[in-house]
Amino acid sequence: MAVAERAGKVLEARGLVKKFGEKTAVAGIALDIREGDFTGLLGPNGAGKTTTIKMLTGLIKPTGGEIYYYGRDFFTCPKDAKRHIGVVPQHSNVDRDLTAYENLYLHSILHGIPKKRRREKIYEALEFAGLLDHRDRQVKTFSGGMKRRLVLVRALLHGPGILFLDEPTVGLDPQIRKNIWDLILKINQQKGMAILLTTHYIEEAEKLCRSTYIIDKGRIIIKGAPDDLKKDIGGYVLEIFREDGIEEAFFASKEDALERLRGCPHTCKVREVTLEDVFIKLTGKRINV
Ligand SMILES: Nc1ncnc2c1ncn2[C@@H]1O[C@H](COP(=O)(O)OP(=O)(O)OP(=O)(O)O)[C@@H](O)[C@H]1O
Ligand SMILES: [Mg+2]
Repeated sequence: MAVAERAGKVLEARGLVKKFGEKTAVAGIALDIREGDFTGLLGPNGAGKTTTIKMLTGLIKPTGGEIYYYGRDFFTCPKDAKRHIGVVPQHSNVDRDLTAYENLYLHSILHGIPKKRRREKIYEALEFAGLLDHRDRQVKTFSGGMKRRLVLVRALLHGPGILFLDEPTVGLDPQIRKNIWDLILKINQQKGMAILLTTHYIEEAEKLCRSTYIIDKGRIIIKGAPDDLKKDIGGYVLEIFREDGIEEAFFASKEDALERLRGCPHTCKVREVTLEDVFIKLTGKRINV
């Protein structure tokens, strides 16, 4: 494909493969991300999400495949591509002994932000994260949510075109998770930055992502907008609690599901389908076990 055809895309990956010895962690993944997209990689533990992110951000070398940022080959001009990339890793890597300001300052040096612009950019980032008043506190005194907000805005400091978030809310309680969701949405909407997020939380993918790649065993099993994927299997599910297990039947409308429920001799429940149902239908197992 010509460079010009790829230019509208922030990121394009083709046939990405990663093998660790005999183990194939990623078995041929293709992705397309355009400016301002909000894309999710949803899959169970061990599906290959982190390995994919690590390849896309240059932390590990793929066994095979191609990656392009703004139409340019990642491997022939990695330095150029890395300017476009912001990363929030699965395991937080802030320096707990430094203050919030110092952590951001360190990052600004590493990313070559000119000295005279550093303070302004750091203040802007702290303000955006609601952490300005806490700038001179050591990060070890921060709550889990504050640390997560700091790591998020740190990744924006050098003005990337795409932000990679690997399980951004894992281990957070529901209220703080919501708070982080709001910040991630604000980054996407106000800064127009493309986001690629990995998660094994169904609700997270459904609430945030406009497009989702569902992956299992290193392969994409289906992709599309969460609502479309759900509609494809029917919008509603009737669960029938039999002695030998739960039977599920899918329906296009709630009325159809309720109609079927009438006269059912077992305990029944009608609910909206989730991406978990999509995953179960395709793989026969649950995302979260
Ligand atoms: N350095 C490594 N050496 C060997 N195997 C690895 C290595 N890194 C990952 N794997 C294996 O590759 C597979 C994919 O791992 P990966 O961390 O990408 O999954 P994940 O989808 O991010 O899972 P989780 O939801 O638990 O974070 C797993 O089976 C894992 O054990
Ligand atoms: Mg992972």
